[in-house]
Amino acid sequence: MKILILGSGGREHSLAWKISQSPLVDEVFSAPGNPGMDQIGPCFDIDPTNLKDVQELALQLTPDLIIIGPEAPLAAGVSDALRARGFDVFGPSQQAAQLESSKGFAKDLMQKYGVPTAAYGRFSDLTEALDYLETMSAPYVIKADGLAGGKGVVIAETLEVAENTVEEFMTGKYGDASTEIVIEEFMTGEEASIFVMTDGEGAIYLPPAQDHKRVGDGDTGPNTGGMGAYAPAPVVDARTMELVQALIVEPMLSGMAEDGMPYQGVLYVGIMVTESGPKVVEFNARFGDPECQILMTGLPGDIVPALLVCSTGGLVGSHAALCEMMGLSDYEPSAIVVMAAKGYPEAPIKGGVIKGVEAANELDGVTVFHAGTDKTASGELVATGGRVLGVASTALNLKQAIDGAYDGVAKIDFPDGFFRKDIGRRALG
Ligand code: AMP
Ligand code: GLY
Repeated sequence: MKILILGSGGREHSLAWKISQSPLVDEVFSAPGNPGMDQIGPCFDIDPTNLKDVQELALQLTPDLIIIGPEAPLAAGVSDALRARGFDVFGPSQQAAQLESSKGFAKDLMQKYGVPTAAYGRFSDLTEALDYLETMSAPYVIKADGLAGGKGVVIAETLEVAENTVEEFMTGKYGDASTEIVIEEFMTGEEASIFVMTDGEGAIYLPPAQDHKRVGDGDTGPNTGGMGAYAPAPVVDARTMELVQALIVEPMLSGMAEDGMPYQGVLYVGIMVTESGPKVVEFNARFGDPECQILMTGLPGDIVPALLVCSTGGLVGSHAALCEMMGLSDYEPSAIVVMAAKGYPEAPIKGGVIKGVEAANELDGVTVFHAGTDKTASGELVATGGRVLGVASTALNLKQAIDGAYDGVAKIDFPDGFFRKDIGRRALG
């Protein structure tokens, strides 16, 4: 079987790495891929959001399955374009992917299906938005409706800052992505991420994960795409997981199917574990990154059959067998430390030389994934900015997994890089 993966980050490298171990798979192609994915199979340098280029590549390679890693191709309608050509695709339709690409769309569906989330208002008129702010109390949560590269959420401590943010957003700070906004109630609790693989009807729940969004130790500094993660996250106990299933995932999947937009692929449910139970912070239409990297390293079995069934349907009937093939009940505790380029997230330094990836990979349980690297003509590995490497480790327990990831980091020589020193500390208590 041949599988094509769209994307070029740590998430996609970990998917390629996992999939290539399946006895069902002969070849893994990546587009555009990265130097880590290039060691697994051929990479094709195309823009994964360009419908025509992706279709042409798929027709040339004739993969049995296409996995869409990041949100941008989903929002651009790549899954629909590929399905229209008869390909099996792991990833939701453009319509269903609006759960991520439009915060207002997601909130309206949650309200319609009675899913617990923060109270909200949705606005495209500045005066109405400012009037609504007056009815709320601090802190104020303001969200750009569209994709804003992770910068579209502001938590304002005062009314003045909130008003300024609303005005900036609605007058086009993030272009079309922010002319419409959502203002919502502030929720208090601990955040976690639940990943659900689905064919639109059945659902496989992966172990709950927690990532570290802030750039600095002790959760300080600006938000990033994620500086580290671990799973399973103890904050999501069995009861919370049951509530997520019954109150959030099942109503969303059945409601969307009934409304003619079944959700296929992986549903990323960002939750706040509040005193009154789990509430949705956000949905994403893809695997989290770096969370995907620890889910792939921690699953001992074969994930390919489940990916295929989610793409083609029939999950309800094969659920138990697929979970067993994945080794879901034997998931090994995993942690990942992200190494980023100095200056990230504002102005990452590009071109920093990286050494020691092989030495880290030789450590027991450690796997290094490429997220923002390139190879120079002379074969040197260099950073291309932002998040550069993910150093993942699995072990018998979380403490050992975290220690293993840091042992891996210690083998890597990346003078222009940095990493957080406190990944997983909260889970260790
Ligand atoms: P989002 O992109 O919607 O996940 O928002 C980014 C981050 O803002 C989340 O991970 C939370 O830390 C925070 N956040 C978003 N919405 C809320 C809310 N209603 N209450 C508290 N924190 C929130
Ligand atoms: N790690 C958070 C995300 O993928 O959005």
